[in-house]
Amino acid sequence: MVAMSGAVFVELANMIAYDIRRGALRAGDRLPSQRSFAARMRVNRSTVVAAFDELTAQGWIVSRGAAGTFVADEIPDRSPERAALKRASRAVGAVGLAAKPGFDVRTIAVAPWPGGARDAKFRVSIGVPDPRLVPVDALARAYRRALRGQHRAALEYSDARGSERLRAAVAAMLRHARGIPCGPEHVLITNGSQMALELCARVLVEPAPRDADSRREAPGLGNSIAIEELGYRQAWRAFEEAGARLVGVPVDAAGLVVDELPAGLRAIYVTPHHQYPTTVLMSPARRMALLAHARKARVAILEDDYDHEFHFDGRPVAPLAADDAGGNVIYIGTLSKVLAPGLRLGFVAAPERVIERLGQLRAVTDRQGDQIVEHAVAELIEDGELARHTRRSRAIYGERRAALLRTLERELPGVLDFALPPGGITVWARAADGIHVERWKQRAAEQGVALATGRDFDREGRALPYVRLAFARYTEAEMAEAVRRLAKALKAAR
Ligand SMILES: Cc1ncc(COP(=O)(O)O)c(C=O)c1O
Repeated sequence: MVAMSGAVFVELANMIAYDIRRGALRAGDRLPSQRSFAARMRVNRSTVVAAFDELTAQGWIVSRGAAGTFVADEIPDRSPERAALKRASRAVGAVGLAAKPGFDVRTIAVAPWPGGARDAKFRVSIGVPDPRLVPVDALARAYRRALRGQHRAALEYSDARGSERLRAAVAAMLRHARGIPCGPEHVLITNGSQMALELCARVLVEPAPRDADSRREAPGLGNSIAIEELGYRQAWRAFEEAGARLVGVPVDAAGLVVDELPAGLRAIYVTPHHQYPTTVLMSPARRMALLAHARKARVAILEDDYDHEFHFDGRPVAPLAADDAGGNVIYIGTLSKVLAPGLRLGFVAAPERVIERLGQLRAVTDRQGDQIVEHAVAELIEDGELARHTRRSRAIYGERRAALLRTLERELPGVLDFALPPGGITVWARAADGIHVERWKQRAAEQGVALATGRDFDREGRALPYVRLAFARYTEAEMAEAVRRLAKALKAAR
């Protein structure tokens, strides 16, 4: 049972009211059934009944009989969290995101592969989901309905921020599953998180002076973005293309070393949930230190939560954006891992004026996303198909991860040393002394296995004694075959 002080039902009622006040639950949202609430909170059902009665009496929720219990439509707009959200818009504006006067976003209307070897039979180098698990029949049906529905509206020009329907579905998902207080106005849909990273960089970084003779210089570190080292090359490239200067900051077993952040940054790019590529989970102390640092230094945090769902030990940890009292976090997510990278669907959650500015840039980049795909995927989110798929694939990937560990012990004993983090769809391991990982990688490619090594994640491309094994895409038997080939390759490389 959950430890709650005082009358348990009052505590529970307060928790739910708090979620409504801070916007994690919104007017019209359906609450889970009393039975599932009781199971989730590990309290008696009668406690939930009493809490719901209390909230109904206070006017927070209404029961609509068999349809369920809903957050009341009339919620007073007086919460400290809403005020924080408004402050957030101003705070992020203060770090250089002020919306420029422009058009109304509503009306206008080859990545290098880590480990190379794009054609390898086993690409254990890249952390992608298994496309065989994607619910393609449900997707196809939703796609057909999206094409035909609403007077074929999905075939028209639309909002540059993404379809209202998908933004609402993503906002609801972020509120309910990740605790981020947001509505559709705080969400921008992108062509994968890569586009989100690029747009954010363009918003954050000041353009270089146009006149080649100009003596005007970028103000101090003003165009610098701190990045994790080791880290995600594709993000670095987007930042550099936008004119940013990159400042590498080390990562240790607790995540980004916040004390090493220099002053005068424009933004800090982090992957705190499962650090890329080490999969380290940022410790609570570091999270608090990072948020406090950003608030004090008035710097934006670009939080890339690329595989939020794949946390195997306990529930996923709430994103930094869920605790962002200062309004510094620009949160980036993707459906590439939880559904499929080929769909190209990512999103940004941020204060409204940041979203408006990003929408303006998106409009001049490619006007809008694919409305049909957006409507179809919105349907998968709305009817719970995505949540079902997530639960199913998380269970399968959890088993595959356990199977990989057994296989490594059997086929490569004493070769790889790693601390298993609570989540992520890759294993990051240090190779034993004397193993030349770059030679191993070459021999692996001859065996049809693309292996990523430390070098793929290092800014200077230094040889580092690490390898990364991505396990989600392959069944236990397939992965065992890939590891056997790796063992053979290692023998040849010695
Ligand atoms: C750190 C990180 N961010 C984001 C992504 C997802 O990119 P996209 O959404 O553009 O497919 C990946 C995919 O590999 C990644 O590793």
